[in-house]
Amino acid sequence: MIEAIYTFPSNFLWGTATASHQVEGENTNNDWWLWEQELGRIRNGHRSGKACEWWAGRWKEDFDRAATDGQNAHRLSLEWSRIEPMPGQWDHNAIERYREIIKGAIDCGLKPMVTLHHFTNPIWMVEQGGWLADEIVEWFERYTRLVVGELADLVELWITINEPNVFGYEGFLNGGFPPGGGSMRELYQAMRNMVLAHAASYHSIHEIQPEASVGVAHHYRGMNPARMWSPLDRWVTNFRSRTFNDSFPQAVSTGQFHMMGRRERFPQAANTQDFFGLNYYTTERVTFDLRKPTELFTRGFFPPDADLSPGDFIANEPAGMWKALQWAHGFGLPIYITENGVEDAEDRIRPRYLASHVREVWRAVNFNWYVRGYFWWSLVDNFEWERGWTQRFGLWELDVETQERRRRSSADLYAEICKANGLSTDMVARFAPQAFRSIFPGASLEKPEDQIAS
Ligand code: BGC
Repeated sequence: MIEAIYTFPSNFLWGTATASHQVEGENTNNDWWLWEQELGRIRNGHRSGKACEWWAGRWKEDFDRAATDGQNAHRLSLEWSRIEPMPGQWDHNAIERYREIIKGAIDCGLKPMVTLHHFTNPIWMVEQGGWLADEIVEWFERYTRLVVGELADLVELWITINEPNVFGYEGFLNGGFPPGGGSMRELYQAMRNMVLAHAASYHSIHEIQPEASVGVAHHYRGMNPARMWSPLDRWVTNFRSRTFNDSFPQAVSTGQFHMMGRRERFPQAANTQDFFGLNYYTTERVTFDLRKPTELFTRGFFPPDADLSPGDFIANEPAGMWKALQWAHGFGLPIYITENGVEDAEDRIRPRYLASHVREVWRAVNFNWYVRGYFWWSLVDNFEWERGWTQRFGLWELDVETQERRRRSSADLYAEICKANGLSTDMVARFAPQAFRSIFPGASLEKPEDQIAS
């Protein structure tokens, strides 16, 4: 086989992403911990418990694995409830521990990207109204200032809020996340407060650390009309995508927050991103459905022939990554893929999913779009929110009881990609032969001598 390789720019960041509550363990002072104690909230009654024992020190062995495998960056998040256990009271031991973890990452060659808010909230903050209270803007700014003041010498890349849309819809409309759902009105209120909190956080970070690079990790869900010929399906797809995908990024780009027919102007939120963080997982078909008021009378589903993850949660749709990148590119900022991944305990579809998605990222790079890095979700299996431990996203498998880590073959593939700073025909032939033709349409799996003989 003639070797071909899709090569990335020399300073490209290759990493994995994690979030505090999903990996640290014993996060007893936040709303998710309480939520996990309630009957029926988490699949199979699972709890985060000790998670991956990062707080107890196992971050070190996981970072060592990542670094040995050629990664040069890691995205992690800080647990607000550890840093500010009571309003205005700072736990300096917790901050010290985060310094140690972040320094540990840097010492083994992983550039840190740090998220300030990844779904979890201190209990005191929720008791005072959480994201529906207007004071959240002040609280989040105060927390930002403390953290950035303490960590600016170690961290250059900041994410203020992870997936405002997923957090908003699950927490304030659908109810998969605490506080357990509400109404369109509450969703709107939470989202607008996130726009304002992000803007305040952005400006404070730059005041303290002018050279910082600050963004949001935006979740983009690909959506195609179920029936292209149906004007209704086309209209609802557009509506669902605009509401879910566009409202927040538009607001922090233009300063105009527009959602579900309401519009507010927040000039302080305009141009409050230095890069565009993009989380992409999958693409769905969308149709009109009167029975789905909480989904804005739309229904998303995967077609029968989709290449699905074992829990039917994610369809392998790399074309959607390309669309997501085109969309993100439209915001005119450098792009980091801040999450991309698939749940797959058996590692059956992960290798082809990984290779196919990296190929789409390369296409964007090849157009000279400013794609600066790629963070795979995730390094090691971790606590998967309302789906508990039933879904496994790690390059490394975790035995939750013994804390033993076992390498999946995707870890080998990702290590080869990171070390080569590219994706080659040889890698795809060995790890994801089913996707070979779509990834390298011009190449042949056969050896040249076989090609001549045939
Ligand atoms: C979240 C992660 C989560 C992943 C997989 C993203 O929406 O940011 O916390 O584990 O999806 O479901």
